[in-house]
Amino acid sequence: MIKPHGSKELTPLYVEDPEQRAALEKVAAELPSLLLDSAAAANAVMLGAGYFSPLFGYMNLADALSVAENMRTTDGLFWPVPIMNRTDAIDSLRDAHRIALLDPNVEGNPVLAVQNVEKIEEIPDELLKRIAEHTFGTTDTGHPGVATFMSSGRYAISGPIQVLNYSYFEKDFPATFRTAPQIRDLISKNNWEKVVAFQTRNPMHRAHEELCKMARETVNADGILIHMLLGKLKPGDIPADVRDAAIRKMVELYFPENTVEITGYGFDMLYAGPREAVLHAIFRQNAGCTHLIVGRDHAGVGDYYGPFDAQAIFNDIPEGTLEIEIFMADHTAYSKKLNRVVMLRDAEDHTQDDFVMLSGTKVREMLAAGEELPEEFARPEVAHILMGFYQSEAGR
Ligand code: ADX
Repeated sequence: MIKPHGSKELTPLYVEDPEQRAALEKVAAELPSLLLDSAAAANAVMLGAGYFSPLFGYMNLADALSVAENMRTTDGLFWPVPIMNRTDAIDSLRDAHRIALLDPNVEGNPVLAVQNVEKIEEIPDELLKRIAEHTFGTTDTGHPGVATFMSSGRYAISGPIQVLNYSYFEKDFPATFRTAPQIRDLISKNNWEKVVAFQTRNPMHRAHEELCKMARETVNADGILIHMLLGKLKPGDIPADVRDAAIRKMVELYFPENTVEITGYGFDMLYAGPREAVLHAIFRQNAGCTHLIVGRDHAGVGDYYGPFDAQAIFNDIPEGTLEIEIFMADHTAYSKKLNRVVMLRDAEDHTQDDFVMLSGTKVREMLAAGEELPEEFARPEVAHILMGFYQSEAGR
């Protein structure tokens, strides 16, 4: 199987042994504690689940800046996005060597992880902006990822962590949340060698379905790993349970049996476009996938990135840095001329009007009004699940 990023073995930071875990929980109850922000909690879950292997914990400022500016830690490890634990509440932590990290996303704020504190560093304004500029390509707080990043705490607490649980993800998404080692096991059990991963934070329509099928066929993959984001999104995005149900219906009805695994990971969306695409590639490699689909405006938001910036960034990564390969997809849509979904680059004689294209806003409006989506755009069974959501209290 494809090797993990940056080391021979995966290094999940979850404490696997139940006795050791129970002992650490006891120790944690006596330690000074810090209530994490959601971004730091999501980082802990990803570190625990082996996706962020070979990192051992939260980065210090020098590493965060080096990663932002050069996509390398100060030790030379290739990494695209700073992984930090930031807070303003440092008064009770000043002399602490070890702290309990409390989960902001679970009632009662249980301990999520234990951290050895290496450094507590104040982040100067100028440096924070530099990190944001390099990571997101902008410091505009109209960008939802930048807004979260800039409003997070002004101190960086760095050091290794041990993770005690996977926050709310295991309980809320028992059939879907999987760790990197669990996905490696799934791939082995299926006897898959080539596996193409599909990153998504949206329900899947015809274009996405066909994108997966085209990728599988083109790279001659044994299977497809649909790997959906289960963490926080910006307001207006569709909640994970609804997406999960819609994706399961689509796979059940429209994919050959035993060709798809539906899974998810516990991370908050950064909307960092190209840099997030690289992070996506790393953690799919860690999960044992040989290919990742990167299509149009991957991990983007608004007009902050060009539609194919998230593909172009891979051309600048030195050969051999990553083992996973990128399946770069052009804009994909249903062609009324050919009566099938195609990539625009394969339909040169088409004009815009030859395709069935609907904006996200239009789709939302139609579903909220109880209007059927065109079958060329969405599978009816999928559309009905989404319509149910948009017509419910939660979707309004
Ligand atoms: S993302 O933020 O997780 O990337 P989304 O779930 O919308 O967003 O997209 C999942 C993947 O499908 C990404 O690789 C994206 O580039 C690709 N994609 C989505 N829609 C299209 C499309 N119409 N044509 C080509 N690629 C697409």
